[in-house]
Amino acid sequence: MTSLREVLNRAEADKVAVGHFNFSDLAAFNAIVAAARDQRLPVMVGLSEGEREFTGVRQAAALVKAVRDEYDYPIFLNADHTHSIANAEAAAKAGFDEIIFDGSALPFEENIAQTKKAIEAIKSINPAILVEAEIGWIGASSAVLDKIPDGVGVLTTPDEARQFVEATLVDVLAPAVGNMHGMLASMVHGNVRKRLNIERIAEIKAAVRIFMTLHGGSGTNDDDFRKAIKSGMTIVHVNTELRLAWRRGVEAGLAAAPNEVAPYKILGAAVAAVKEVVSSRLELFSSR
Ligand code: G3H
Ligand code: ZN
Repeated sequence: MTSLREVLNRAEADKVAVGHFNFSDLAAFNAIVAAARDQRLPVMVGLSEGEREFTGVRQAAALVKAVRDEYDYPIFLNADHTHSIANAEAAAKAGFDEIIFDGSALPFEENIAQTKKAIEAIKSINPAILVEAEIGWIGASSAVLDKIPDGVGVLTTPDEARQFVEATLVDVLAPAVGNMHGMLASMVHGNVRKRLNIERIAEIKAAVRIFMTLHGGSGTNDDDFRKAIKSGMTIVHVNTELRLAWRRGVEAGLAAAPNEVAPYKILGAAVAAVKEVVSSRLELFSSR
């Protein structure tokens, strides 16, 4: 079975990105797997601490293992936005491929200190797990937002990024480059798209020379995505767009059959809606 590191090395060389999609139920999980298998593309699935609390840490790992075992498929599991060392250790023990230790809300030096501790704890359980860290503030919610959260919009500098990576020796870096978690209502309607600072992405990549992840992918301008990937983003996270599709699918499933009580009959529309979003993003991220 190919490792996540090998898949990322290949993507980096090809100047494409691996799509990372969050899930918290079987409808979204099956939709992500179906979309990836249709295009025969490696895929990452992730769960935040809240999403893991809902599914169960080991249960999520078992789902991913089942797909790997059944289809020999390159699907990788990420413990997204992990804020405590205890939760990072639980994910490491459950067999996650990547763990994001998110100290982005901490002062810079404290983020470095906590990230180093997290890396030590995770690698002592399994040195093959990739650890990602975040610097810069891009908000925290994959939700429809009333306004841009306070503090969002300040870009990570190449110097900060270099200093952080040299001090922590982290495997993957998530910087702030114009991206933001969640979507404004105007982005949901498609009138406004998130714009990325492509030049800054290229400068940070040149400064750190490690894998980089673009968080907050929902509602981003397609051309900016293409350029960001060519400039050094090797993983792209999308969540809010999937949550919106899931909700619309559930509503459509319920409306189509008001007397239906079988969840698998109602949720088919949610699977289809999420699959459509994942398919379109995978196509974009893998285009050369
Ligand atoms: O880690 C999750 C992502 O960064 C999702 O961001 O909800 O804006 O797509 P998004
Ligand atoms: Zn994120």
